[in-house]
Amino acid sequence: MTQEELFKKLIAHSKEYGFIFPSSEIYDGLSAVYDYGQLGVELKNNIKRYWWDAMTRVNDNIVGIDAAIFMHPRTWEASGHVGAFNDPLIDNKDSKKRYRADVLLEDWIAKQDEKIEKEIEKGRKRFKDSFDEAQFRATNARVLEITAKRNEVHERMTEALNANDLEGLRQIILDCEIVCPISGTRNWTEVRQFNLMFDTKIGSVAEGANTIYLRPETAQGIFVNFLNVQKTGRMKIPFGIAQIGKAFRNEIVARQFIFRMREFEQMEMQFFVRPGEELKWYEKWKATRMSWHRALGFGDDNYRFHDHEKLAHYANAAADVEFRFPFGFKEVEGIHSRTDFDLRRHEEFSGKKIRYYDPETGESYIPYVIETSIGVDRMVLQVLSAAYKEEKLENGEERTVLSIPAPLAPVKAAVLPLVKKDGLPEIAHRIKDMLKYDYNIQYDEKDSIGKRYRRQDAIGTPFCITVDHQTAEDGTVTVRERDTMEQVRVHMDDLHTMIERNAGLRGLLDKLQ
Ligand code: GAP
Repeated sequence: MTQEELFKKLIAHSKEYGFIFPSSEIYDGLSAVYDYGQLGVELKNNIKRYWWDAMTRVNDNIVGIDAAIFMHPRTWEASGHVGAFNDPLIDNKDSKKRYRADVLLEDWIAKQDEKIEKEIEKGRKRFKDSFDEAQFRATNARVLEITAKRNEVHERMTEALNANDLEGLRQIILDCEIVCPISGTRNWTEVRQFNLMFDTKIGSVAEGANTIYLRPETAQGIFVNFLNVQKTGRMKIPFGIAQIGKAFRNEIVARQFIFRMREFEQMEMQFFVRPGEELKWYEKWKATRMSWHRALGFGDDNYRFHDHEKLAHYANAAADVEFRFPFGFKEVEGIHSRTDFDLRRHEEFSGKKIRYYDPETGESYIPYVIETSIGVDRMVLQVLSAAYKEEKLENGEERTVLSIPAPLAPVKAAVLPLVKKDGLPEIAHRIKDMLKYDYNIQYDEKDSIGKRYRRQDAIGTPFCITVDHQTAEDGTVTVRERDTMEQVRVHMDDLHTMIERNAGLRGLLDKLQ
């Protein structure tokens, strides 16, 4: 199965089992907007809880807030979003389709990378055991030719983006002979800048409406509350403020399912430090965040850092944590050293002093900031794409299983009476009632036990608890583990401890210490 086929299956599976639906589907959906179903919301909440606890519980010096989505419009002038939160867009005159110029080029670069990989595969097959990849890359004429062209385009693109050279970007698209995937032509317009913020009106029209924006990042809600939290929480630098909430961007390139959405959710933490110490903290947070991802057990090779060449207007260092999705390595999280840019600008635009008096140095200053910013939806996609498996079993049957890390699984256990009689359903209900206040538990008595196992595998339930006639005699049940399919006999009084040990968040959080 190709990665593309796998991704299509994953999207279909997410819908079929109630994880993710297209928004307002009965009206044919709304592009790049999605709804989370009954299982998707549980998975999402577990991811949020993992992040929230890793920030605010594990660290004594990080607290959380929940700021409003609507903010004073001056906020976005101060942050630079009104002037500079743009994407370079280009239209194809024949298909009338609009694209991001930089994405067209990135796709072209990705195609060159694929070509290089194909050449390497050919070499590997040809030279078998004596194949030396490094030497092949350094000497094979075809690989050298593609690599040189690829690197040249990459360099020109970076320069053009840094210099905001829109004509330059267009020229590279023409030079690479990129065609519109719909019309197949190279009939391109000029490249123009397009602001990504959604605006709306606040107040009744009669009163004189004001334009305000739907926040494009949650970070500004933290910056404008810096003094409120620092003073009321008696916070001492270094300290952090964490927040989870919705953000909105009028993304033009809407694709790859929930990877790029117009309405999405972020988990952001701003960590305030002494000026001059920011790069030390930046490195620390890079390492901390990578451990948080790796603790999920999807394989260290599936993550990498991408250090930014083009820095945002507020940053003096920045890196992405990238995950290997079925469509390649892509960003899930950004770690940015944001200097004192935001607080300084809010001081300037609001006219209010935003300073911190440091009792240790006796100085008053605007703190520097390290930001960690991760998309909840991209995390959901990371978990689903890493977890989705189709397996052939020893008995010849096939199963689709979501090997979601147990602490994030939407349903922790299913309680299944072997038969619908002899008092077994009653015992199963009692077990469910015993566990349901601490965990999301399903009860299922329909169909054969095998079919019920398959249904639970498909939604990633780590444990199936089967109640049989022996349960009525000695209080023991069979517990089947999802990934190994091994079964053990456990007393029902021990179920709570067993689920907590394997599926509680504590196990994940302990790995971060
Ligand atoms: N406050 C900094 C900030 O917003 P960003 O790199 O633009 O930085 C941070 O966004 C994270 O938010 C990304 O790494 C990604 O996970 C998520 N994100 C950004 N745009 C998104 C979109 N359109 N759809 C889904 N997630 C998005």
